[in-house]
Amino acid sequence: MTNLKALSLLKTSSYINGQWQQGKADLAVINPANDKTITHVVNAGIAETEQAVLAAQQALPAWRAKSANERGKLMRRWFDLMMENQDELATILTLEQGKPLAEAKGEIAYGAAFIEWFAEEGKRIYGDVIPAPAADKRILVLKQPVGVVAAITPWNFPNAMISRKAAAALGAGCTFVVRPATQTPLSALAMAELAERAGIPAGVFNVVVGDDAKGMGKVLTQHPAVAKFTFTGSTEVGKTLIAQCATTVKKVSMELGGNAPFIVFDDADIDAAVTGAIASKYRNAGQTCVCTNRIFVQDGVYDAFCAKFIAAVKQLKIADGMHDSSQIGPLITRSALDDVHKLVTDSVQQGAKIALGGDVDKAGHNFYQATVMTDVTNDMPIAKNEIFGPVSPIIRFSDEAEVLKQANDTDVGLAAYFYTRDIGRIFRVAEALEYGMIGINEGLISNAAAPFGGVKQSGSGREGSHYGLDDYLEIKYLCLGGIGANS
Ligand code: SIN
Repeated sequence: MTNLKALSLLKTSSYINGQWQQGKADLAVINPANDKTITHVVNAGIAETEQAVLAAQQALPAWRAKSANERGKLMRRWFDLMMENQDELATILTLEQGKPLAEAKGEIAYGAAFIEWFAEEGKRIYGDVIPAPAADKRILVLKQPVGVVAAITPWNFPNAMISRKAAAALGAGCTFVVRPATQTPLSALAMAELAERAGIPAGVFNVVVGDDAKGMGKVLTQHPAVAKFTFTGSTEVGKTLIAQCATTVKKVSMELGGNAPFIVFDDADIDAAVTGAIASKYRNAGQTCVCTNRIFVQDGVYDAFCAKFIAAVKQLKIADGMHDSSQIGPLITRSALDDVHKLVTDSVQQGAKIALGGDVDKAGHNFYQATVMTDVTNDMPIAKNEIFGPVSPIIRFSDEAEVLKQANDTDVGLAAYFYTRDIGRIFRVAEALEYGMIGINEGLISNAAAPFGGVKQSGSGREGSHYGLDDYLEIKYLCLGGIGANS
């Protein structure tokens, strides 16, 4: 049993303008491993969200006026504090989200890395001098912060999905308001506590926690003081939010759903492909947008891959994330599990076979067995939908052109993976896949230095890397005339 009293970062109300909201804490935060209440938080709503936006607006001039160096120092301190408190942040994260503690620690390091990265990258926001068409003119380009940034973030990465937006925003000189998912507010509030300890000024980083998703979402997408809105979540919700942003023509960046193919060609290193598929598929119990969703295996290695893959999946330990042995934790809610199970059973009815798992696990109500399905075709529900659970559908294919057609046969395009040792094929396939990120002989592709984002209905904009700043900057063109000749 975790001693909650010992958790100094466990905060239970919204953080607005450097203040912790007062009020009765009556919104329960549930541990998905056992459905027990961890604690209650104060339920903020529309009024608090408006206050947070106004606080961010007020804090903007002073934050924007700081040098990138000054901002970078404060952010660096925030990064250091996150890493110093990695164990406690990970405990809070596992309690509210469910992922195994080792994975939660990994997420804290991953999330903190964005703060470190953008603390530095903010110093490299270069402008431009463009040769002018007339001798007495000069063309200068400045890059300036867009202003107040509002964000809505998901429950699957309660820390890293906030930091990779907030760090880019703060590094660019913007101020920030986030509404974290109702299921996982505690990680966001712990980040706010550390931001305060780091000396990030009041109003620069605000967290509003509440269950009025629609009302709070409308403020964040429609308030005139918000210049830019960013969201990570489902494509369906993303479309609604984009439409809401249109009313005030906000700059938007969206990281939406995926349906990642994982292709194993005949010439692949099968053991490496098995390791990559396990890492990509079963990370966070399959609840990531970049998780492998469909495994395509070529005829010549189909039997060998399936045998090795099933044997490896069988070894995965399903347990409460707080147990040392846990490799797969619970799904976020029972209704999420029911959705996954329905995709499995509907596909079985259409001819798919269960090679492993396929049901609720004995570990508890919200735990799903590590599942492998064979005889799957690309038109079955398990292949057409984003699974968000620990289920691997395996589809057999014969040639490169055929698998590319199937892999691209989806409206979304976030991540794709393939395994081959043929250098020509590496370029052909990487160029032909309609996805924003491609893992080649690699199943884990996420890191702060790389541009994360998708094409098609997987969204717009990139997070992380030096490209990650672009979405938080405006380009301003200065035309300097009357220079003339020196007589
Ligand atoms: C996501 O699932 O949206 C993010 C996954 C990652 O950052 O690797």
